[in-house]
Amino acid sequence: MKILYVCSELFPFLKTGGLADVSSGLSRALQALGCDVRFAMPAFPSLAGAATVTRSIGLLPSGSTPWGQAPVLPAVDVALTTLPGCDVPLYMVRAASLYARPGNPYLGPDGKDWDDNAQRFAALGWAAANIGQGLDPDWIPDVIHGHDWHAGLAPAYMRAFADAGRITPATVFTIHNLAYQGLFPASAFAQLGLPESFFSMNGLEYYGQVSFMKAALQYADRITTVSPTYAREILTGEQGLGLDGLLRERAGVLSGILNGVDYQVWSPASDALLSVPYDADQLTQKSCARQALRERFGLAPQPHALVFGVVSRLSAQKGLHLLPLVLEELLQLGGQIALLGQGEPELERAFLEAAARYPGQVGVHIGYDEGSAHAVVAGADVILVPSAFEPCGLTQLYGLRYGTLPLVRRVGGLADTVVDCTPENLHAGIATGFVFDELSRDGLLGALQRAFTLFQRPRSWAAVQRTAMALRFDWHASAQHYLDLYQSLRADKNSPESV
Ligand code: ADP
Ligand code: GLC
Repeated sequence: MKILYVCSELFPFLKTGGLADVSSGLSRALQALGCDVRFAMPAFPSLAGAATVTRSIGLLPSGSTPWGQAPVLPAVDVALTTLPGCDVPLYMVRAASLYARPGNPYLGPDGKDWDDNAQRFAALGWAAANIGQGLDPDWIPDVIHGHDWHAGLAPAYMRAFADAGRITPATVFTIHNLAYQGLFPASAFAQLGLPESFFSMNGLEYYGQVSFMKAALQYADRITTVSPTYAREILTGEQGLGLDGLLRERAGVLSGILNGVDYQVWSPASDALLSVPYDADQLTQKSCARQALRERFGLAPQPHALVFGVVSRLSAQKGLHLLPLVLEELLQLGGQIALLGQGEPELERAFLEAAARYPGQVGVHIGYDEGSAHAVVAGADVILVPSAFEPCGLTQLYGLRYGTLPLVRRVGGLADTVVDCTPENLHAGIATGFVFDELSRDGLLGALQRAFTLFQRPRSWAAVQRTAMALRFDWHASAQHYLDLYQSLRADKNSPESV
């Protein structure tokens, strides 16, 4: 089974969030199941700089298509490449004028979306669709699997080819985050080279705009998202962000497949970024990680303080605006905070102010740093993820493996992966963290208080840590679900009705 995996982030080369971890973990697990996987990605500098070209594939078609005009793009070519330490080959989509911009793949240095994002990511979709049409005659995918709005046009172009009578691969689209929709003014449509009829309510038109996300939801053969609970939540007005109507229409082809963890990268026993490794049977050694974290984040050496860690994009999604509201109580109860994050300036400012006000108790690093992320996940006692919504969430899964108990809101993948420390769950030996419902100061505070109470009972705390550390969210299991999906699609395509 040949799978073209279309995305814009890949750990360890280019990462702004969990999407990158998923690309590396899922692709490898699919390969281990026998799939022939290849990536299609834009030639962002951190990828292009690391890649070795094995074969030049050629220029993307321009000019005309079977239905009319091709996308208006600069010359874009595709090269088959390999990346160091990565067994999945990569079709690099190359156009210096679109992609030769270092840093964040979506935003300029001013923190704003690049003006030409519609064109930059249309080129990715157009490349994927053309690979689906035999651009590389040596390798034609059975399935094109796109991720998030950046890949959203691939299913649309594929549908246009199918409508024009061409044989096309099946398409799968995974929503990692419905909040980022790839919206552009209606005027962008003319440049995309799609049939006129696609700019309609039953196409990719979204309240007068062009939506790359809607294109994918409309035209992909199957839609998945990254947890079963989020798959249900996005069918509601509250979480569907204007796309719930379409998602309800397509509910028959929508499913939730929980993300996994790459335990080669995230395991306390083998973590190269920790000076003293530990595991469930050497839990006392976690105190070395805690000590190292205190030093790194300038926290006072108070061995009995409960250390709360945050590793997060600072965006409204993550619910972290609640943290400053409970700060005083948290410190009075004997807590310390180590926060690593970057994002919205108001949140960055609020946390820097907190660090200045409570030196030695609140340590804040604004920025993106892999080493510090591991230091927090390993060294904290509790990892805080109070999200407003969370499609899956990976940091709570990393926390579980490190015996760093997640304190989370009951939404999306957080609800699917953390078992609250209720008396019943503690008694049954299944509790792994602290879960609260209400997105409010009091909701968060209640869960914090319960964490402090359990922390007073070291044996119970250690038992919960061991339960958490024994859990496994292997990519193997998730990849098997994707493979089942690909196989069912292929069976559908070959059935007599579809001919
Ligand atoms: P999202 O994708 O919504 O940001 P996830 O929990 O799925 O949330 O994934 C976040 C990923 O990004 C994790 O691997 C986490 O360790 C990493 N991460 C987030 N913020 C930072 C940061 N400031 N520095 C380093 N890694 C970070
Ligand atoms: C998104 C979501 C996050 C998810 C990640 C990987 O960025 O916000 O919840 O874990 O994608 O699927």
